[in-house]
Amino acid sequence: MKLVLSTEAVTENLDTRLIGQRVLCYSSLPSTNELAKGEARRGTVAGTVIIAEEQTAGKGRLKRAWLSPRGSLSLSVILYPGLEYLPSLIMVASLAVARAIEAVTGLKAQIKWPNDVLINGKKVCGILVESEVRGETVGYAVVGIGVNVNLRVSDFPELSLVATSLSQELGRAVSRLGLVKRLLVEMERLYLTLLDGGSIYEEWRASLVTLGKEVLVTSGGAEYSGIAESVARDGSLLVRRPDGSLSQIVAGDVTLRHQI
Ligand code: BTN
Repeated sequence: MKLVLSTEAVTENLDTRLIGQRVLCYSSLPSTNELAKGEARRGTVAGTVIIAEEQTAGKGRLKRAWLSPRGSLSLSVILYPGLEYLPSLIMVASLAVARAIEAVTGLKAQIKWPNDVLINGKKVCGILVESEVRGETVGYAVVGIGVNVNLRVSDFPELSLVATSLSQELGRAVSRLGLVKRLLVEMERLYLTLLDGGSIYEEWRASLVTLGKEVLVTSGGAEYSGIAESVARDGSLLVRRPDGSLSQIVAGDVTLRHQI
């Protein structure tokens, strides 16, 4: 089958020097992250991108499954960052997705901590960063991104209440090729800003829909309710508890108590 997202199409006039140096495209894969981890362990070039038209065993955060039928966008980017940059990859990926969606569709995208991208309060993209760290050294980091692009969410009952798609929000199909190219450009800009000593924290913080909201956070089996007061520079969430204390949460899952 001829791929819409082919190596030639994705790399043609791609305005990047790191991300997309090598692009591998597949009609179907179990999971782009799984393939990417194998490539990374074999030492493939930094900035390698793996794209699949569909995933049959897509992986979500917290060991959940991620649905990636045809019409969605599933990709993984392989990087070898220094340990100090690892926590910021979530910011790089979520901001890049938000910027790319806004540029390509004009839709306003917001980020729900730590890294879901929402449109009109519904999830349109999930991000799974997987890495191998030995002591102070990062073996690799794989940034996996799944976007609901051209899907009828109502065809997937498990998604219909919480998720949306770009085509559903826009009322027309969206070019996945245009979106992926813009996404790779934005990822590179943000990643290189970090490596050059710049900060992307302020933009990420300003894009968060979570701050100031009443939240319930589940993290490592514990639950924290309160007001999401702020985020630290390392990306952790600061929740003001009803007793006035402040909990710092590094990783978890947020439910907004009231819809936005
Ligand atoms: C989540 O919100 O739970 C994260 C979902 C991450 C899905 C992407 S799709 C591309 C990459 N490959 C995977 O198997 N998962 C990530």
